[in-house]
Amino acid sequence: MIEDHSVKSDRPTKMSARNVNVFYGQKQAISGVSIDVDMDNVVAFIGPSGCGKSTFLRTLNRMNDTIPGARVEGQITLDGTDIYTPDMDVVQLRARVGMVFQKPNPFPKSIYENVAYGPRIHGLVDGKADLDAIVEQSLRRAGLWDEVKDRLNESGTALSGGQQQRLCIARAIAVDPEVILMDEPCSALDPIATAKIEELIHELRGRYAIVIVTHNMQQAARVSQHTAFFHLGQLVEYGVTSEIFTNPREVRTKDYITGRYG
Ligand SMILES: Nc1ncnc2c1ncn2[C@@H]1O[C@H](COP(=O)(O)OP(=O)(O)OP(=O)(O)O)[C@@H](O)[C@H]1O
Ligand SMILES: [Mg+2]
Repeated sequence: MIEDHSVKSDRPTKMSARNVNVFYGQKQAISGVSIDVDMDNVVAFIGPSGCGKSTFLRTLNRMNDTIPGARVEGQITLDGTDIYTPDMDVVQLRARVGMVFQKPNPFPKSIYENVAYGPRIHGLVDGKADLDAIVEQSLRRAGLWDEVKDRLNESGTALSGGQQQRLCIARAIAVDPEVILMDEPCSALDPIATAKIEELIHELRGRYAIVIVTHNMQQAARVSQHTAFFHLGQLVEYGVTSEIFTNPREVRTKDYITGRYG
């Protein structure tokens, strides 16, 4: 019997990709990927190194625009609107679809300024008290407030790696995004800092659509409800996380999750 692994949600699709191809010059890195992401379910992207997880993730907020020679075909929508139309405001798009990278990259500015910068440049702030409130709320949501509230004027780069990563999450949250993309956000962190980020992902679920790339199978199983397995630039299988890990449909998925390659 063929099991139904299809992903379902009560809420409408937030982002949708249809038949997406990505090229670096002549080289094709992503082939024909179609996927839907909703607000209710954290999506994990898994697959061996070089299979195109980061490349595809970057198409979701047009970060690939910044890579010379990168070209995207197909359609990607946010709330039904094509994000690749020429009149799309890419700065605005990246506020709506925020990104957290593998290596924490706080600005060389104070903790406060790291969080305040985005809301200020996006004109989301009505005076100092409002900005203070946004900074506090973002740091609280990122689970960092209690650790930094007495030293908001210290440099963001002086925090520990795990704190820096939560600061980067606070920075992404501060501009009131709808989607948060995380590319191996814990790979530079120790197990305690990793647990904090995972806990945070649980808390943020439902408020934002979340996509996380991870090489850690246990992490994918812990934090996601839906999992997408990529291999050689293709989306091989997309389904409910528990099904993907216990009862994959595709041999390639099974081989990967059982450690046969990767
Ligand atoms: N900036 C770039 N220019 C040219 N080729 C690139 C670029 N970035 C990625 N590629 C190529 O695209 C393919 C997919 O790379 P990508 O970084 O998306 O893989 P990944 O699944 O994220 O791997 P990893 O797990 O190691 O991070 C690889 O063959 C890689 O060499
Ligand atoms: Mg990558």
